[in-house]
Amino acid sequence: MSLFRLDASIRIEGSTSRALGDIVEGEWGAAHPDAVITRRHIGTEPLPATVWADAVAASMTPESERTSNQLAAVDLARTLTDELTTADALLFAVPLYNFGVSQHFKSYVDLVLTDPRMAPGATPATAGKPAVLVTVQGGNYSAGTPKEGWDHATAWMRRILEDVWQLDLDVVTREFTLVGVNPALDQFTELADELKRLAEDQATHHGRGLAQLQRAI
Ligand SMILES: Cc1cc2nc3c(=O)[nH]c(=O)nc-3n(C[C@H](O)[C@H](O)[C@H](O)COP(=O)(O)O)c2cc1C
Repeated sequence: MSLFRLDASIRIEGSTSRALGDIVEGEWGAAHPDAVITRRHIGTEPLPATVWADAVAASMTPESERTSNQLAAVDLARTLTDELTTADALLFAVPLYNFGVSQHFKSYVDLVLTDPRMAPGATPATAGKPAVLVTVQGGNYSAGTPKEGWDHATAWMRRILEDVWQLDLDVVTREFTLVGVNPALDQFTELADELKRLAEDQATHHGRGLAQLQRAI
């Protein structure tokens, strides 16, 4: 049994997405104590910004004519895809930045999509694989709030993970992580505490679900 875990937070200390990811991983690990866990930290060890364009260019260039950068980009896309396809379960922990998807996660997805096994239009090599997405937001975007509709990341991530990569996906969300950090949000302390508890419960629940799905395979 093996788990692939990707973290996209740009910090380690105090990262709430990592903390929720740890809960999911802990539940999965409790069910599979001897299992292998492969990690990728794309927020703190980003993929080179040029690789995606090189991989796309490589796909339009005969293999014998590819540049060394193009060959390296294809190789990296292959490695990233291998990480997804060889794992039995997947965990992604991705915060909201600037009302959109983390640039590091976008670059990562873009590069994976250049691998022929994951290219849109055919059944992806990840189809049916169990996965959990943890996503956190500093603010609150729920219905009726002033910024309803400003979270442009979650829907895109779901589209990619559920529809393009065809993962069997559960999502853990925690809003208001900036309460206690930004004094302007102090009035929401009680609500934020409740949302944190709910997210931790969700993470436990979906971590157990991920482990059970694994057993069923
Ligand atoms: C540069 C930057 C931009 C951010 N932009 C947003 C944003 O647009 N909306 C939001 O709700 N939170 C935003 N946040 C807050 C993060 O989503 C929040 O701090 C989250 O907890 C970060 O994930 P982490 O705790 O795993 O590091 C931003 C944080 C940073 C550092």
